[in-house]
Amino acid sequence: MTHQKRGDSTRLVEGGRRKEWRGRLVNVPVERASTILFDSVEDLHGSRPGLGAYRYGLQGTATHWALSEALTELEPGAAGTALYPSGLAAITTPLLALLKPGHELLVPDNVYGPTRRFCDTILKRLSIHCRYYDPLIGSGIAELIGPVTRGILLESPGSLTMEVQDVPAICSIARERGLFTLLDNTWATPIFFPAIAAGVDISAIAATKYVGGHADVMLGAATATPDFFDRIQTAAWDLGLAVSPDDAWLGSRGLRTMGLRIRQHEEGALKIADWLKGRAEVGLVLHPALPDCPGHEYWKRDFKGSSGLFTFELKSASKAQRTLFVDSLKLFGIGYSWGGYESLVLPADPYRTIGKPPAVNLVRLHIGLEDPDDLIADLREAFDQAGR
Ligand SMILES: Cc1ncc(COP(=O)(O)O)c(C=O)c1O
Repeated sequence: MTHQKRGDSTRLVEGGRRKEWRGRLVNVPVERASTILFDSVEDLHGSRPGLGAYRYGLQGTATHWALSEALTELEPGAAGTALYPSGLAAITTPLLALLKPGHELLVPDNVYGPTRRFCDTILKRLSIHCRYYDPLIGSGIAELIGPVTRGILLESPGSLTMEVQDVPAICSIARERGLFTLLDNTWATPIFFPAIAAGVDISAIAATKYVGGHADVMLGAATATPDFFDRIQTAAWDLGLAVSPDDAWLGSRGLRTMGLRIRQHEEGALKIADWLKGRAEVGLVLHPALPDCPGHEYWKRDFKGSSGLFTFELKSASKAQRTLFVDSLKLFGIGYSWGGYESLVLPADPYRTIGKPPAVNLVRLHIGLEDPDDLIADLREAFDQAGR
């Protein structure tokens, strides 16, 4: 039941709301279940897990299928979407499903910190080698592919330093050489970057961010092509990763308004990034839609928009001044994650094992749905406090 030719907004509203799952309600309800009862032994033995097939709570109910189907419809060319209990699990589980001892994975050097940690601890213990690469390597990735390389991880834009990758070039080389590609597409979501159509095999998102949208749910999703979907879905079941139906429901609830929200985040973030560029205290503004951001040309070529998360450099401030600046903000919460309706701030120190980050002493902002002029006034006051 795919309607991938419809517009994004229509797919966000309609996706997964099958009549057989929602009955006369507008929304598919929360179906809580561990045991599913069968009519006969024959039915029990004949049952297979999958979308629309009640079998056991681990394999989901209509609440989960509605969200999976809606996310799949946002990625033309995808076969399905597996749900996970966090965004991190939507990256680590497919990697566990596809890699074996002796394999090598290529990993961008600006990868999300906990993903790097997984690579350097659990994958390492399994004798799976992770080789870090310059996120701006583009088609130069071909030179890093060796006899045991099996996959390429991508994250675009990358965490903290926001480099935009040449995803189509990397994926086309990966296909030629028989490697899988897994993209962390959390920042853009399929609304701004339909990744499967760009040649990615597995498009993972932390649905904790823009899909949930309200800072109250941990949830991940990986949408994949027919060649990969069954393996990444089965791995979640084999590892016993159950997603609570309440959380899946919150995901669907958030998804209906995600298109509107993400465009509002975009507008606010662009206004604030522009304002920051005019401040004497600010060096680079690392926002994919602005020319200072490494890989900006790929954003312009490939993306349909930009979301609410970006970073800027505090030019000559000490770490103590940066702390004072962050602590002085009133409308920006200090905390991990992003993608909710509220603005957030984090001091950020990128970590690299190859090459150097484009800037250090960074501040990461997530621009929420507040009035941008109020956020600007808050930032102005914090600059004044930190400069005193
Ligand atoms: C780029 C990126 N990917 C993945 C994740 C992980 O998501 P979760 O917090 O749902 O595990 C995050 C969380 O901050 C993130 O920023």
